[in-house]
Amino acid sequence: MTTNNVDIREIKHNTEDYNQELELRDQVLRTPLGLSLYNEDLNAEKNDFHIGAYANGHLIGVLILTKQNEKEIKMRQVAVSEQWRSLKVGTELIRYAEQYAKNEGYETMLLHARKTARDFYLKLGYESVGEEFLEINIPHYRMRKSLV
Ligand SMILES: CC(C)(COP(=O)(O)OP(=O)(O)OC[C@H]1O[C@@H](n2cnc3c(N)ncnc32)[C@H](O)[C@@H]1OP(=O)(O)O)[C@@H](O)C(=O)NCCC(=O)NCCS
Repeated sequence: MTTNNVDIREIKHNTEDYNQELELRDQVLRTPLGLSLYNEDLNAEKNDFHIGAYANGHLIGVLILTKQNEKEIKMRQVAVSEQWRSLKVGTELIRYAEQYAKNEGYETMLLHARKTARDFYLKLGYESVGEEFLEINIPHYRMRKSLV
């Protein structure tokens, strides 16, 4: 997929692209919280589907999909490089992820949204389910969207 010179494509696990993915996730999602992604057990990620957004060959956005069961798949680690925000890169990553999930036969996309990003997902048709809860010590909401 190409939009505004941004390519969206799969990132294969344990490649140089995957190493760049980890760097971007660490920089956007962990360092600002005083945490390090590299302290986490990332072994199970080999079973996930990783998606990257590239501008001029440079990784600017990422998300991961993790199978929950035959019908549900969970979106995680959604991150866009700070200089590239508000340019619809996040929207395009999510559209790509939803299309992939539909093609694979999933019926529902799930996610845990940071409170600070909840409106972003609401705009993309996700609904909030249940009460606020803490994950990595910050407020989150469970969200979901039907793909069928
Ligand atoms: C949240 C994030 C992925 C959004 O990516 P993005 O490429 O900047 O978003 P888009 O440009 O596709 O935004 C789509 C719409 O959502 C809005 N939006 C984006 N981020 C938002 C936020 N944090 N809060 C409220 N609205 C937001 C945009 O203004 C835009 O609105 P519009 O359609 O009315 O113009 C990105 O800001 C980011 O990486 N944030 C830091 C990490 C993070 O919070 N990740 C999510 C963890 S659950």
